[in-house]
Amino acid sequence: MKYQTYLIFGAPGSGKGTQGRTLGTIPRFFHCACGDVFRSIDTRTEIGQAFLEYSSKGQLVPDEITVRLWQARIKDAVGMHIFKPDIDCLILDGIPRNVGQARLMDEMIEVRQIFHLTCPDRSKLVERLKKRALKDNRLDDANEEVIRRRLATYEEETKPVLEHYPREIVKDIDATQLPVLVFQEIVKYVCQDQHAAV
Ligand code: AP5
Repeated sequence: MKYQTYLIFGAPGSGKGTQGRTLGTIPRFFHCACGDVFRSIDTRTEIGQAFLEYSSKGQLVPDEITVRLWQARIKDAVGMHIFKPDIDCLILDGIPRNVGQARLMDEMIEVRQIFHLTCPDRSKLVERLKKRALKDNRLDDANEEVIRRRLATYEEETKPVLEHYPREIVKDIDATQLPVLVFQEIVKYVCQDQHAAV
């Protein structure tokens, strides 16, 4: 059985985590942010070291490690009954992050809709991330050069993921609106989709 999945998609700082976490508080939705999974790993382990090495340069961690780690995290959540795949929808943010990951995940997830948080003015994202660096302990937010590298990695490797899926399931949402208005749009699409499914 494939996991019924909504993807929260967008450049660094577009608000994926903000929206995914909020949706994940509603019963029948389970949120999993790939960056958070990496950050929760002991940095003395092999995967923890790989994460530090790649993320501090604004690069993606290799696909095999990433998808294996993600699968293990989902299996744990199923084992602990915090994600019940027969009745819950999966909200993914930060994965798949390139076409290779999307292909590896095709046999595991059924992507129902993709919420593409758009912000053509990249300077707004840089400002958001620099502000966040002061609040959260995010190594990759601390340095503007790393932020710019992450944005470039998004353009080169992540954005093409949108073409891997049918255009009609991609919902473009203006990420520069107030967070509650972004959420309202996501909820509108989810409700339409859930109504259509019953
Ligand atoms: P990850 O943690 O996924 O970082 P990211 O994609 O760069 O995304 P961010 O967490 O920076 O931003 P966000 O879109 O979640 O925005 P947020 O809601 O926080 O990945 C980090 C690293 O891990 C990667 O660089 C890579 O090395 C590695 N990695 C992760 N996944 C991987 C994968 N699949 N494969 C390989 N490597 C992987 O919002 C940002 C700020 O803006 C916050 O302060 C928030 O309060 C504010 N904000 C949010 N929405 C709004 C709004 N509408 N208006 C104003 N402010 C807002």
